[in-house]
Order: sequence, then structure tokens, then C-alpha cells
Amino acid sequence: MSSKTLILMLVLATGGLWAQEKKETTPPPPTGVATPAVPEAPHPAAISAEDKARKNPVKFTEVSTDRGKKIFLTQCALCHGDKGDGKGEVATEMKLALPDFTKPDTLKDRTDGELFSIIGTGRDPMPSQAGRMTDERRWNLVNYLRALSGKVPEKATGKEPEENIILVPAK
Ligand code: HEC
Repeated sequence: MSSKTLILMLVLATGGLWAQEKKETTPPPPTGVATPAVPEAPHPAAISAEDKARKNPVKFTEVSTDRGKKIFLTQCALCHGDKGDGKGEVATEMKLALPDFTKPDTLKDRTDGELFSIIGTGRDPMPSQAGRMTDERRWNLVNYLRALSGKVPEKATGKEPEENIILVPAK
């Protein structure tokens, strides 16, 4: 090997090292523009402040949670499991890792409005329910999700209206 080649190799080698070192120590260039906060996985859907603040117009009663349960068992349990533990048949088949709604912590940071919105828009592969069922039914589902995690609904009085159980005025 000629000495010229050796020098060339040395230059390349040290140059390479220097470049690597520089890469590691150079901070990202300041842009002057705030990067919008990217919502964290695993729940990437953006929920507007308005949706988040939406109040549940359906009273948290046994009538509502029973109605929610019926819908849950037919529309949701195939993925979320009959008990809401996330171990539904389809979830297992599709290898989906689903949240366990029976744990009080799972949905504790979610407002009712957020749950209503999530059920409405869906989450791939979870189908959207907006347009497939009335708002009232979606609220019954929200109430049932609360019951699944241990919240105890008010006893039925037997005086609840047949279908329309929107008892709390929506504001
Ligand atoms: C095809 C399967 C499937 C069906 C059916 C389904 N879901 Fe889901 N659900 C999912 C998946 C997948 C997620 C996303 C889990 C994640 O983001 O980690 C999810 C997430 C959720 C969440 C969000 C939890 C959170 O805090 O982000 C709620 C609430 C929920 N589902 C409720 C329902 C209800 C109520 C129904 C019935 C109307 C339903 N799902 C039907 C698959 C399904």
C-alpha cells in the first residue's frame, strides 16, 4: 500500500468519525415555530374541546345501563368481550390489544363526552356508530361503560319513560 493511499484512508476514516461525532452532538436546528403537539398512541384520534366538555344528558340509572348493556352485547362484545375485558373473539382473532373496561383506571381520565365522541367516530377497525344509532343509545353505552368499571347506577324507579330517557336537560 502506498503512503498516499494510507493518508487518504486516514483522512477518510477520521473524517467519517468526525462527521459521526458532529451528528450526535448537534442539537436540532431551532425553527422558531412551535411544533403542534402530536397526540400520543395508543389513542391517536383527536377529540375537540367541545366534544370533551359535552355533558351526558342521560341519567346514570339502571334503566340506562341495562339498555347500554343490550347494545354492548350485540355491537361491541365481539371485540371488547362480553364482560368488557377486551377479550372478544374478533379481538383475539385480529390480535388486537384492547383496553380492559372492567378496570376502574382504564377510562377514568375520559370524560363522558370523550367516550360519546369515540363511540361516534370509531377507531380503525372499530366501526363508527354515529348514524347507526341514536345519540341516546350512544349515551346509554357511555353509562354502561361506567357501570362496567364499577360505578353503581341509581336504582330503577319503574317510572322511566319507555324510549326517551333523556332526563337531564342537555346544556
Ligand atoms: C372490530 C372491533 C371493535 C368493535 C366492534 C368495537 N370496538 Fe371499541 N375499540 C376497538 C379498538 C381496536 C379500539 C382502540 C384501542 C386503542 O386505541 O388502543 C377500541 C377503542 C374503544 C374505546 C376507547 C378507549 C379509550 O380510552 O381510548 C371505547 C370507549 C370503545 N372502543 C367502545 C366501544 C363500544 C361502545 C363499541 C360498540 C358500540 C365498540 N367499542 C365496538 C375495537 C372495537
